[in-house]
Amino acid sequence: MAIKRIAVLTSGGDAPGMNAAVRAVTRTALGRGVEVYGVRHGYNGLLTGDIEEMNLRSVSDIIHRGGTALYTARSMEFKTPEGVKKAADKCREMGIDGLVVIGGDGSFRGAQDLTRAGIPCIGLPGTIDNDINCCEQTIGYDTALNTCMEMVDKLRDTAQSHDRCSVIEVMGRHAGYLALNVGIAVGATSILVPEVPFDFERDVIARMKKTSATGKKHFIIIVAEGIGGVVELAKRIEEETGVESRATILGHVQRGGSPTVRDRVLASRMGNRAVELLLAGKSNRVVTIQSDRITDYDIEQALAMKKPFDLDLYRTAHEISI
Ligand code: F6P
Repeated sequence: MAIKRIAVLTSGGDAPGMNAAVRAVTRTALGRGVEVYGVRHGYNGLLTGDIEEMNLRSVSDIIHRGGTALYTARSMEFKTPEGVKKAADKCREMGIDGLVVIGGDGSFRGAQDLTRAGIPCIGLPGTIDNDINCCEQTIGYDTALNTCMEMVDKLRDTAQSHDRCSVIEVMGRHAGYLALNVGIAVGATSILVPEVPFDFERDVIARMKKTSATGKKHFIIIVAEGIGGVVELAKRIEEETGVESRATILGHVQRGGSPTVRDRVLASRMGNRAVELLLAGKSNRVVTIQSDRITDYDIEQALAMKKPFDLDLYRTAHEISI
């Protein structure tokens, strides 16, 4: 069946670069003679009919903006079989032959359900957590890394001025990629992530004492959200080392901001590929990047894949922060 009309939506937590992906999808499709509809507020928009036809100018002036111009949501209703049916019916009613979904694993599960309900879907990985296992780098991750690094650099200034320890939580409920890479970039004394078991005395206190002995006076400890408890950690550190400590949860500021070059280019390449896949009659695929090559996987296969945590990088981080 020839694809005449497609739709695009963003779903789950917003990520910088989503707009560049929407733009690439829209422009590629229109350029190839396919009509495009933008669905607002994720899958909810399919349920409520919050859908608008896009033209070439609908996506002007968004490539540099964080967030998502299409809005996003985590839709509970869509997770039910009735919700999926309603969304598929809406697509059929509007003559939508294919859908591009930009989001994380949860959004891909939805795309899979919708494909099974008869609407061909393609997923694009958009999340700052980088926790899409088939993909080396997700849309938004690079921007979040840089945002976190800049903020921790600022915290370092004040930690240094007061000879303090700054204990900082970065996002990543289930994944420590942000924490590990930010930790290296800011020269953290200790990095705690959900993927690697740690011992507080050995991995935090002993490391601080050892570096103190060689003259280090201020410290950065990076903690992934999945570990949490930074306020208590800072208290314990102060009690056990005598170093005045402060806790900071960076929070949602990490998700905002203008996307980096890397995220804009990645999102543009992925958006372009998503439309090519739909036009080639493919569905239930997730677009990914591996060794700088854009490729794609079956969603089911992608969801079952594992991405090993880079233990060597973790080891390196600690080896050089002495
Ligand atoms: O998945 C992206 C993410 O930012 C996680 O790192 C974080 O745990 C979660 O979203 C926060 O979600 P919400 O926006 O619902 O608070």
